[in-house]
Amino acid sequence: MAYRIGMIGLGTMGRNLLLNMADHGFAVAGYDTDEKKVDLLAAEGKGLNVKGFSSLPDFIKSLELPRVLILLVPAGKIVDSVIEVLIPLLQKGDIIIDGGNSHFKDTTTRVNYLQPKGLHFFGMGISGGEEGARRGPSMMPGGDLEAYKYVQPVLEAIAAKADGEPCVTYIGPGSSGHFVKMVHNGIEYALMQLIADTYEILKRGFGFDNNALHKLFADWNDGRLQSYLLSITADIFNHKEPGSDHWLVDDIRDEAQAKGTGKWTSQIAMDIELPVPTIDIAVCMRDLSKYKMLRTNIASLYKAAISPPGNAGAEEFVKKLEEAFYFAMIIIYSQGMQLLARGSAVYEFKLHPDQIAKIWRGGCIIRAKFLELIYKAYQKDPALPHLIVDPDIKSIVNQSLPIAREVASQCIVAGISIPAFSSTLSYFDALRSERMPSNLIQAQRDYFGAHTYQLIGKEGIFHTEWATEE
Ligand code: 6PG
Repeated sequence: MAYRIGMIGLGTMGRNLLLNMADHGFAVAGYDTDEKKVDLLAAEGKGLNVKGFSSLPDFIKSLELPRVLILLVPAGKIVDSVIEVLIPLLQKGDIIIDGGNSHFKDTTTRVNYLQPKGLHFFGMGISGGEEGARRGPSMMPGGDLEAYKYVQPVLEAIAAKADGEPCVTYIGPGSSGHFVKMVHNGIEYALMQLIADTYEILKRGFGFDNNALHKLFADWNDGRLQSYLLSITADIFNHKEPGSDHWLVDDIRDEAQAKGTGKWTSQIAMDIELPVPTIDIAVCMRDLSKYKMLRTNIASLYKAAISPPGNAGAEEFVKKLEEAFYFAMIIIYSQGMQLLARGSAVYEFKLHPDQIAKIWRGGCIIRAKFLELIYKAYQKDPALPHLIVDPDIKSIVNQSLPIAREVASQCIVAGISIPAFSSTLSYFDALRSERMPSNLIQAQRDYFGAHTYQLIGKEGIFHTEWATEE
């Protein structure tokens, strides 16, 4: 029996993805050094055309030519060591697909290393977690187009479907697939922070209990804010452990962890000078949450009763909050889309923003009803300079903007931390400023460091001996 696809790494993601392929009629094989995982695959794949191996040579021999190997191993050095072990066992034309959250710059290095050996290396972002892998993820494969065509039928079969269309497309050359997945995760971080801000406003500001929070997020999820992240948030506020009489969410420590993809998004955005402030602040807030002792200490020094924002009462405020949330969400997605466009130009990825929005409509963590509007905006104009320039998005922004201001200012007065809401507004207000105060920054730089400046309407670089302080 020759297997069409081989999976290396039979953890939850690897196993579920293989079973998904087998469900769609593909004969597939998996390899893991851990025999327990191989046994688990056999048990879970009973009746399906799937076989597990714990011998690497046997596994490699069992695959159809050209071989397609998907790696689902932890990102970092392990990927390189697996590649080294594979090289002597493979032959020209074989395809290696890294399905993990690898840094796209590592993927570039690996593509360049394997190309002269005649091996195709693909970086493929996979989003959707365990359930997505089993029932249909969103996939972002980047690499050699010919090699993509060979695996395309399998990927299209197993992908989530949105409007009947598979949530996978050829992203572009080189490491573009991992770049796009990184940006996806940056957006994910910012949206999660926005939901956390909302939780803070409702819980601390208005004293909502978990029943009320569950109901509100579930209601919002029935409307234009419909998204995977809101739907799981509604579920979280409804969850008690079996036998327990209280909510699990209340027992979880308020210290957020991160595997690093959000930080990479901010780092890269700064490297290529494309501002994504709401992603940045989301990364910062996870870091700040880790300083529990310091926060506890400072909380005791600056005790302040938090008052409900505004004076119209919870019911009225919540309606406005939904509008403000919509505004902030639009700005978050637009920051991510800007980063895609800038990254595409800098790294020559030739990305198609409409197609990326399209495959994010299903299967992935940031899937949301709003992605349909993003998709349409970039379909109309693939070179759209910014999402908020699109006429349809502009009218939504214009409608929600005054309410977003009202909500944010009332929360600030009430003493509630709302970094996602406030950063989207500040970003927006700077973006719509024909003249920013950056002339003053240039003057200061020149004053203290002779860093020079340019003048309006006059060619050249200038420096001034500014008056010294009396
Ligand atoms: C996805 C997710 C996933 C990511 C987790 C954890 O698209 O399925 O982005 O790839 O690993 O969300 O990320 P953090 O540990 O950084 O929060």
